[in-house]
Formats: sequence, C-alpha cells, structure tokens
Amino acid sequence: METLSFRVVATDTNVSVMLVNDSGRCVAIADMDRTDQIDADNNDIWWLARLNVKPEYQRKGYGTILIDKLKENAKGLRIIVTPGGYNTPFEIQHDFYESCGFVDQEEGLMALDTQ
Ligand SMILES: CC(C)(COP(=O)(O)OP(=O)(O)OC[C@H]1O[C@@H](n2cnc3c(N)ncnc32)[C@H](O)[C@@H]1OP(=O)(O)O)[C@@H](O)C(=O)NCCC(=O)NCCS
Repeated sequence: METLSFRVVATDTNVSVMLVNDSGRCVAIADMDRTDQIDADNNDIWWLARLNVKPEYQRKGYGTILIDKLKENAKGLRIIVTPGGYNTPFEIQHDFYESCGFVDQEEGLMALDTQ
C-alpha cells in the first residue's frame, strides 16, 4: 500500500505543505503567503495562493488535510481565498472551502479564521 508523507516549510511570510508518495512524487500541494493587510480584529491576513490535489488523489480527504496542516502552522490569523480558476467548477471549489470552514465574504472572497 502506498505511504504518503508531509513536507512542511514555514517561514514568517509563507507556509507550504506537500503530500509526497513513496517515490518522492508530490501528489498534493498547498501554500499561502502573508499579505501586508490585517483584519478588523488586528489579525494578519494570509492569502491561499495554491491548492492542488492530483486528479487520481482527489475526493479522498487530502485537500482537507492540507488545509488542516496550514491551519496548524498558522495560528491566530485569517486565511483568504477566491474560489475559481483552475479547471474545477466554482461550485465545487466553493463547497470544498465551505466544508473546510471558510465563510463567504464580499467580492467572491472566502475567509477562515484560525485559532
Ligand atoms: C478542490 C480540491 C483541492 C479538493 O481537494 P480534494 O482532496 O478532492 O477534497 P476533499 O476530498 O478533502 O473533499 C472535502 C469535501 O469538499 C467537497 N468536494 C471536494 N471535491 C468535490 C467535488 N468534485 N464535487 C463535489 N464536492 C466536492 C465535498 O464536500 C468533500 O467532502 P465529501 O467527499 O465527504 O463529500 C481538488 O478538487 C483540486 O485540487 N482541484 C483542482 C485545483 C483546484 O481547483 N484548486 C482550488 C483552487 S482555489
């Protein structure tokens, strides 16, 4: 059975999480960058710049796990994302982010406040 492992790189301005298989192939990746903005509660706002799960690994919970890993490495801040783009329909991305706890904001943005 295939074993998957995480690679996490966290700096003051970026957090990247990769899910890698036995052969060293990246099967899913997520990364976010700190913006120079803060929200109304003075929390730093981070931008989810990339989230991609290889098609054959989709719908197995890995996207959710990557978001959870980002949250673990990013306490007390706001993560924002704009669903859309890639080849995945907007509704699927929106439902995915909603299932991860993101909430609709103005202008098509979704946001998640980490604890
Ligand atoms: C969107 C994406 C990251 C989801 O990753 P994933 O690993 O397949 O998602 P998960 O298995 O963790 O799904 C969690 C929930 O999201 C929703 N969801 C995910 N994919 C879905 C789909 N194709 N259709 C409907 N709902 C979906 C479901 O509610 C799902 O829960 P369930 O499987 O128990 O019903 C993945 O489809 C992807 O990489 N797509 C291409 C790139 C992309 O669109 N990235 C987002 C850029 S903003």
